[in-house]
Amino acid sequence: MKNTVVTFKEAKSKGEKLTMLTAYDYSTAKLIDESGINSILVGDSLGMVCLGYPDTLSVTMEDMIHHTKAVARGAKNALIVGDMPFMSYQTSVYDAVYNAGRFIKEANAHAVKLEGGAAVAEQVKAIVRASIPVMGHIGLTPQSVNAFGGFKVQGKSEEAARKLIEEALILEEAGAFSIVLECVPAKLAEIISKKVSIPTIGIGAGNGCDGQVLVYQDMLGMFADIKPKFVKQYANIGENMKEAFKKYISEVKEGAFPSKEHEFKIDEEVLEKLY
Ligand code: KIV
Repeated sequence: MKNTVVTFKEAKSKGEKLTMLTAYDYSTAKLIDESGINSILVGDSLGMVCLGYPDTLSVTMEDMIHHTKAVARGAKNALIVGDMPFMSYQTSVYDAVYNAGRFIKEANAHAVKLEGGAAVAEQVKAIVRASIPVMGHIGLTPQSVNAFGGFKVQGKSEEAARKLIEEALILEEAGAFSIVLECVPAKLAEIISKKVSIPTIGIGAGNGCDGQVLVYQDMLGMFADIKPKFVKQYANIGENMKEAFKKYISEVKEGAFPSKEHEFKIDEEVLEKLY
């Protein structure tokens, strides 16, 4: 069944959990979509898990458009959310609307996500006015890694917790259809989820959120550079891949691959003329 922003709204009102995973390419998006996910986030985590950067700051609009297009070709039923990269919306309301529009027009996304609360409220309002659904993102917002001084849990003091509650309410007021809560204490995420009428999607924010999102390479054991505490590893695909790669290398070296079944034939008549 096709997932839309209405699916998100209805899930919250029925108390049904929403599911989201990241994807960055056609074949992975197809597999995730066929598994019945509600939503696929083409996250700017692309920069770290696919492009090998130490953080998400170098990711460009062109990177995001390129990968979102591929995901949109693979996913038929998931709501596709394109993640607005660093400096594609912070600079002005005009840039925010223009770049959000590119995700919809050029890349076939259904919605965009951007990081921040009060600081980007005007951008959220303007994008929503342009009929583009916006997913907010507060807590640990990786594009602010330099301002935070690292990837750290957010909202632990009373002041910081109150600020996060406030930011969530501002995003709801601005028209966001959902909010990602990243690296927030579970009890605080539960309070926020109860205070807002739009669904919260947690990552490192406990079970009290209305849905969950994970980076797919993390949950499949394919990315070992950083191992956040909140990740549950559902498979060890990284090890399986390495075993397969090693087997291929040794079979090629031994001459065991390719075997007859992988060969193409040529007519004997043609062959004789070649000797
Ligand atoms: O870029 C990303 O993958 C994200 C998720 C961690 C929510 O923003």
